[in-house]
Amino acid sequence: MRDFDELIKRMTLKEKLAEITQLYGDEYTEDDSTFMGIDYRFEANREMVDNVGSILGVSGAALIKEAQKKHLETSKHKIPLLFMHDIIHGFKTIFPSPLAMSCTWQPELVKESAEIAAKESAVSGIHLTFSPMCDLARDARWGRVVETSGEDPFLNSMFAKAYVEGYQGTDVSEQYRVASCLKHFAAYGMAEAGRDYNTTDVSEYELREKHFPGYRAAVDAGAKMVMTSFNALNGVPSSGNKWLFQDVLRKEWGFRGTVISDCTAIVEMIYHGFAQDEAEAAKKAIDAGVDIEMVSNTYYNSAERLIKQGRLSEDQIDLSVKRVLELKEELGLFDNPFKDADEEAEKKYILCREHRDAARKIARESMVLLKNDGVLPVKKNDEKKQKIFLTGPYADSRQMLDLWSAYGEEKDCLTLREVLSDEMEISCIPGIGILDYEKEQVENAVKAAEDSDIILLALGEEPLMSGESNSRMDIGLPGYQQQFAERIFAVGKPVIVILYNGRPLAIPEIALKANAVLEAWFPGTEGNHAVCDILTGAYAPSGRLTMSFPWAVGQCPIYYNCYSTGRPSKNVYISERFSSRYIDGQSVPLYPFGYGLTYTTFEYGEVILSDTVMRRNGSIMAQCSLKNTGDRAGTETVQLYLQDISGSRVRPVRMLKDFRRITLKPGETCQAVFQIDEEMLKFHTLDKGFAAETGKFKIYIAENASTGTCAEFELV
Ligand code: GLC
Repeated sequence: MRDFDELIKRMTLKEKLAEITQLYGDEYTEDDSTFMGIDYRFEANREMVDNVGSILGVSGAALIKEAQKKHLETSKHKIPLLFMHDIIHGFKTIFPSPLAMSCTWQPELVKESAEIAAKESAVSGIHLTFSPMCDLARDARWGRVVETSGEDPFLNSMFAKAYVEGYQGTDVSEQYRVASCLKHFAAYGMAEAGRDYNTTDVSEYELREKHFPGYRAAVDAGAKMVMTSFNALNGVPSSGNKWLFQDVLRKEWGFRGTVISDCTAIVEMIYHGFAQDEAEAAKKAIDAGVDIEMVSNTYYNSAERLIKQGRLSEDQIDLSVKRVLELKEELGLFDNPFKDADEEAEKKYILCREHRDAARKIARESMVLLKNDGVLPVKKNDEKKQKIFLTGPYADSRQMLDLWSAYGEEKDCLTLREVLSDEMEISCIPGIGILDYEKEQVENAVKAAEDSDIILLALGEEPLMSGESNSRMDIGLPGYQQQFAERIFAVGKPVIVILYNGRPLAIPEIALKANAVLEAWFPGTEGNHAVCDILTGAYAPSGRLTMSFPWAVGQCPIYYNCYSTGRPSKNVYISERFSSRYIDGQSVPLYPFGYGLTYTTFEYGEVILSDTVMRRNGSIMAQCSLKNTGDRAGTETVQLYLQDISGSRVRPVRMLKDFRRITLKPGETCQAVFQIDEEMLKFHTLDKGFAAETGKFKIYIAENASTGTCAEFELV
């Protein structure tokens, strides 16, 4: 590692401030390469542009090499540019949304997708990606649940680690690796009422138990950067939150990398009412340890005055500059400023067959079969003469990509009609759009449905109905889709619903009336090939929900690892009438965390414990038999949940602690075996410790968070 102290001494203050400022890419390109579409632009003067440290949202080997070359020609200190981008689930070969990929319960698949995304990004000149998003999902109204790995801290941590390892490998200077920036620290998913950017009020207990583990896992996996979040957390905006970034991130967790603000989040502290002006915003952000200011210029414009006023020290600026220079060094940019940017490699690797095949495989594994009365898999016409009719707004749509799909293009996605037509004889009339409704088209579709033997009904949200700034107050099917579905159900033929959406939807009528429901999410470039693989039975679905589906938006936020309350629905003291419930609906989810079906069935035996007493530093074994009771091989995700029955703080009714993906042939039986140790029982106790408290615990071995046999043991 070069010693940058001498270099920093030679830099003027303005050169240092430009080094810790990030500009949008359109300062460097003819066209506006930033796909962010944010209107905020500040006038970047020539000196800033000549000395800026990093660029947001540009890609392309030729373009980036040219920009880097030009920059180094004008840069007095020959400091290379750092190119950063939002490559969230693929660069041009787009994988399913992160929420979808979390439903695979296979971190190794997420790691594979990240390695491919890193390769396609690196050959296109990108050095760092703003991923993984480690925010815990809480409220389906929040559009950005699509970017999360669900509502569970244990899974969230596993996936965060997998993304970082996939992007960075063991050395980010290696070929086809990019640096990883975890985001958004912290608890952005707790936006009140699910409204994006809204305030968050989260107890330290909840933060440490449920929200911090995901971020911590990415830090421990070696992520090189951390991004602040837009939200005020307990009254303090993250970008000015010294407790979060100096005390927790750096002192407690030992993070030594670089912190970047989210997009204009520093100047937004004025709107939060946390800074009177840009100078105070800059001061609070620098004091909190935010090293790079993303696309606003409070540092560049105010730091000199703040130093002269004695409100900041130049040492603070030097420290941030040093972190940025060290990151560039770790990426090898001082030795090779072009790193992996290579036009020939772009042609060879981007959207290549191998990457598409991986995208198809991962899309299959991310889909969740929510209902099936036996109508699936669909028999192809040659096996069983039947007229198959495909309808709904997603019947012939290429909208397989969610909001954050980088350079993915819909033209590379096949429609469900195109894919199915290669496999079987179908007729297709979409009948309606996501939002629009044209009576004649509806009647044509209903008539065609009447004349068919089986109906495929493809419904969903627009991609722009989830993702950043796209919160919804009603999370049912948009537009007239529910009315259209009722018409189709009324035809009286078997109906298979396929859903394309970015968040859990409140779809009780669909759940009730459809014969089968397949959750496809936004499945990416190869999405409809994956849907077809599952509908035809070429592959059995094995995805499991990582976020609860509510019956109604009024239940939100609803999640499995909640607290019992003093009046749970089943209790011996208070009648059901006065329990914690709704008088006009369910208090349990429509589909629970961990839920998903496949093309066979499984039977669970009783939970057997090696001992009903666990001693300190000891462990016990828990197991149960699992039998494939169907006529097809299948994969079951056997889940181990723990309940700490009583503690110095209330404890969740269930906590996922481990799981096994087990594949069995028809009739085959095996033992699902788990080790439970004291570490699993630890939590943030009332006296601010982190320990396992003696007392009784329940162990569930289950197919999802609302079922399963259980056994009790005691920690003594
Ligand atoms: C956006 C997002 C963040 C993204 C950043 C840069 O506003 O909040 O996730 O990485 O800006 O594009």
